[in-house]
Amino acid sequence: MLKTYTCGELRAEHAGQHVTLAGWVHRRRDQGGLIFIDLRDRWGIVQVVVDQESGPDAHNNASNARNEYVLQVSGKVRIRPEGTLNPELETGDVEVVADSLQILNPSKTPPFYMNRDDTSIDEVLRMRHRYLDLRRPQMQQNIILRHRVIKFIRDYLDENGFVEIETPILFKTTPEGARDFLVPSRLQPGKFYALPQSPQQLKQMLMVAGYEKYFQIARCFRDEDLRGDRQPEFTQLDMEMSFVEREDVMQLNETLMRAMVKAVAPDKQIMQEPFPRILYKDAMEQYGTDRPDIRYDLRAIDISEIAGKSGFPVFVNNVADGKPVKVIRVPGMAGELSGTQLRKVTAELEAKAKAVGAKGLAWIALPTEETGEVKGPIGKFFTVEQKLDLFDKLQAEPGDLLLFISDAREIVYAVTDALRPYLAAELGLLDKNLLAYCWVIDFPMFMWDEENQRWDPSQHMFTMPLPEDVPLLDSEPGAARGSQYDMVCNGHEVAGGSIRIHKRDLQEKIFPLIGQTMEHAKEQFGHILEAFEYGVPPHGGIAWGVDRVVALLAGEPNIREVIAFPKSQTGADVMAHAPSEPEPGQLEELHIKLDLPVEEEEAQTL
Ligand code: AMO
Ligand code: AMP
Repeated sequence: MLKTYTCGELRAEHAGQHVTLAGWVHRRRDQGGLIFIDLRDRWGIVQVVVDQESGPDAHNNASNARNEYVLQVSGKVRIRPEGTLNPELETGDVEVVADSLQILNPSKTPPFYMNRDDTSIDEVLRMRHRYLDLRRPQMQQNIILRHRVIKFIRDYLDENGFVEIETPILFKTTPEGARDFLVPSRLQPGKFYALPQSPQQLKQMLMVAGYEKYFQIARCFRDEDLRGDRQPEFTQLDMEMSFVEREDVMQLNETLMRAMVKAVAPDKQIMQEPFPRILYKDAMEQYGTDRPDIRYDLRAIDISEIAGKSGFPVFVNNVADGKPVKVIRVPGMAGELSGTQLRKVTAELEAKAKAVGAKGLAWIALPTEETGEVKGPIGKFFTVEQKLDLFDKLQAEPGDLLLFISDAREIVYAVTDALRPYLAAELGLLDKNLLAYCWVIDFPMFMWDEENQRWDPSQHMFTMPLPEDVPLLDSEPGAARGSQYDMVCNGHEVAGGSIRIHKRDLQEKIFPLIGQTMEHAKEQFGHILEAFEYGVPPHGGIAWGVDRVVALLAGEPNIREVIAFPKSQTGADVMAHAPSEPEPGQLEELHIKLDLPVEEEEAQTL
């Protein structure tokens, strides 16, 4: 080894030892006769002192070194002189007095510095020089945290009797609601593999094969638009178990999640254990989404009964039409605000609501002792009794702001979902150190697809209906609930799974409901239907979005920060320039001809 110690491990007890270190110049201070170098490697930073008198050659090399040069340094560890201890560094009690310093490799001036905790580095630069970005201590912590998460999961599942099994990447369509990435076959011209959107079918095959407890840290591919918590290529902890009920899968995963968080991110606080369970319909009604952030309350409370009897025509008419009126009570938000300030704040909120389809956002501000009177455009439409009723139902307090949402149910959901996180941010309620997990259960089996006029599976087509809802598949598919469970944390869906259909007749019933002809289903999923004839155990499973879990633990807003080489917003690898045009001959070999749209400029010159 070119080093006898890492840069992070030297302590007072090493004083007097002669050590060799190797790493990068994190920072360099030239004071003439003395040069100080903060030498950095993966394990930390240590100060090296190069004294012209005691080490003239070393000093000469050190004066040539610059930030990010790679050095090898030998010297004696000593306690730092009094008054120069650095409590910010773990190695801050000591320094290494160099007697030899070699430049192993110089570095160009980097496009950004690794020694600044800089969140403002240009995103494109970071991606283009990802190898430098990954050198930054923050990124190294994230990537190492990711390793710890995966290691913990592997060990835990191994101890619990699970087998890790790899499934193919070149496969057939495994629909999870996104577009497939296709890979052309050279040996079978005109045919394509699809990259797996998940190992869903394969893990079910492994249950047929009798492995009973399977898991995999699985790469999945989905050609869909990117978001902060979505990449076209991402990693699942994929899991499947035989002879289980949904309770078993949920228990195991909750226990694993809790143990993992405590082991790898002990500074994080889990808000509630066991994780609360929320019915899908309650999640929609109260939070407007099936992945609620429950770090804060701010729920939408249905007050249709009171509002329907008020004098406000919009509410009265809506309630008569079966459209709800709901209120989000925002504690203390009206507080000491003047009338003008209140109008400004509520105008901003109304704009947010309108952006997602609301027609307005009525409000009532409750007085404090100082402000003295109820304010807001619709206060006058409620009698004193109705107001008292309302405040009582909402458990309203002086200084609260009540926001009224009334429209078709879908719009009420969208407005609730848009306002809650915004209000929470305004009120400073988004604590990154708090992990508010919950389970959302009892999803509908299907969602109506207006565009294609058919039911779409709300999870995937292998989800078992709740036993009591099986008859509804014939009479009222939209009302049938599935055995699906999603684990949600701070507003992100971190895992989702279900108990599966394990009988061929039930599986066959699902295909026509979701607009698949039996012929097409057999072509795509014949292997499953066939396997279902050979003794399939009842089974179920789940998959975690590993990137999302790690991002939450790292306190990062975007999963890109916990993936070594992520894709950009346009699905590109900016460093290596992927996707790229094929080499000459590659397409011919695959019998592929491109039929690209003619670029506008070109078209004009034609
Ligand atoms: P699902 O589609 O819910 O379920 O995916 C499981 C989890 O994977 C994560 N995830 C993503 N993470 C990053 N980028 C993406 N594009 C992306 N898409 C999904 C989410 C999600 O909860 N086969 C089923 C699982 C099962 O039923 O066992 C499946 O793939 O955190
Ligand atoms: P108007 O009677 O149109 O002046 O509206 C009075 C108040 O009610 C305004 O603050 C509007 O933003 C609000 N409002 C109008 N329509 C709705 C609605 N459908 N839901 C909630 N508030 C509304």
